[in-house]
Amino acid sequence: MKVLGIETSCDETGVAVYDTDAGLRAHALYSQIALHAEYGGVVPELASRDHVRKLLPLIRQTLAESGLDVADLDGVAYTAGPGLVGALLVGAGVARSLAWALDRPAVAVHHMEGHLLAPLMEDDPQGRPQPPFVALLVSGGHTQLVSVEAIGRYRLLGETLDDAAGEAFDKTAKLMGLPYPGGPQLAALAERGRAGAYKFARPMTDRPGLDFSFSGLKTQVLLAWRDSDQSEQTMADIARGFEDAVVETLAIKCERALDAAGCETLVVAGGVGANKRLRARLAQMAQRRGGRVAFPRPAFCTDNGAMIAYAGALRLLAGQHEDASVKVTPRWDM
Ligand code: KG4
Ligand code: ZN
Repeated sequence: MKVLGIETSCDETGVAVYDTDAGLRAHALYSQIALHAEYGGVVPELASRDHVRKLLPLIRQTLAESGLDVADLDGVAYTAGPGLVGALLVGAGVARSLAWALDRPAVAVHHMEGHLLAPLMEDDPQGRPQPPFVALLVSGGHTQLVSVEAIGRYRLLGETLDDAAGEAFDKTAKLMGLPYPGGPQLAALAERGRAGAYKFARPMTDRPGLDFSFSGLKTQVLLAWRDSDQSEQTMADIARGFEDAVVETLAIKCERALDAAGCETLVVAGGVGANKRLRARLAQMAQRRGGRVAFPRPAFCTDNGAMIAYAGALRLLAGQHEDASVKVTPRWDM
């Protein structure tokens, strides 16, 4: 089965072709980061218009690279939510129209289910992780721990009560004057920071439970930054202190979630899953427990079309698809 995947929920236009026999045949991404940078965040209307401009050329390019003709497709999967409504409608409209013209099924994919399944599409020396497992979803919009009992059967174990982990990275970066989106830059800066020079709290780890809260951490950083000499080394030290606090908090909760779910496989997905220190810390924890942690490659941690094509292919294989109406769900529980 060959499925075209389309992702337009936020500020990246992602397209891919996943083949259930041959694996990922092609994928392409156009990032709008430069477009939004001068505004310090994503401007929804600009995002929608840019998806309109980029999506069709990207579909043509991806199909050419896959070596397939559009008529070879067995279905079209698209992100139907959660996300920015205008941006979602661009992907949904194009996907539905294409599916209708080809007389193929269209499949609405939940963006976070796409992230959650991304590690399963990677070749892994230990084999692809299979449910049951615990998934840590850490993106700019979500921080969730989910018990994956089977594909399509998800139980929320815990989530953030305020900022998502990626959002905390971005806001913290912004308050130290780094340009949007600051998360990856803050992480790069932390590489030069000294461990322990600044120590911030590990929020909500001193009581039982699997929920998170990251907004207080941002305030702690703000106060430390204001009182400091604001030199380059201090900035790196604070970035390191912040990153260590987030990574440690996520690791503590992941370990608790594995205990609660009674399994030893952890799957990590979402943009913050690209963070090197988080990857190393969770790998170390898994090794100590004799378990396993699986990540997508860094490019598939952040938004991409491949995860949507893959999630859509699994849904189509299970016989699931939608009627012909163009609907999106900007707010959507998994
Ligand atoms: O999954 P994603 O691409 O988009 C959402 O669905 O939100 O995640 C983007 C988030 C941003 O907040 C970004 O700052 C963060 O992931 N991010 C990182 C790193 N790379 C991306 N945060 C920390 N370290 C990184 N290396
Ligand atoms: Zn995402």
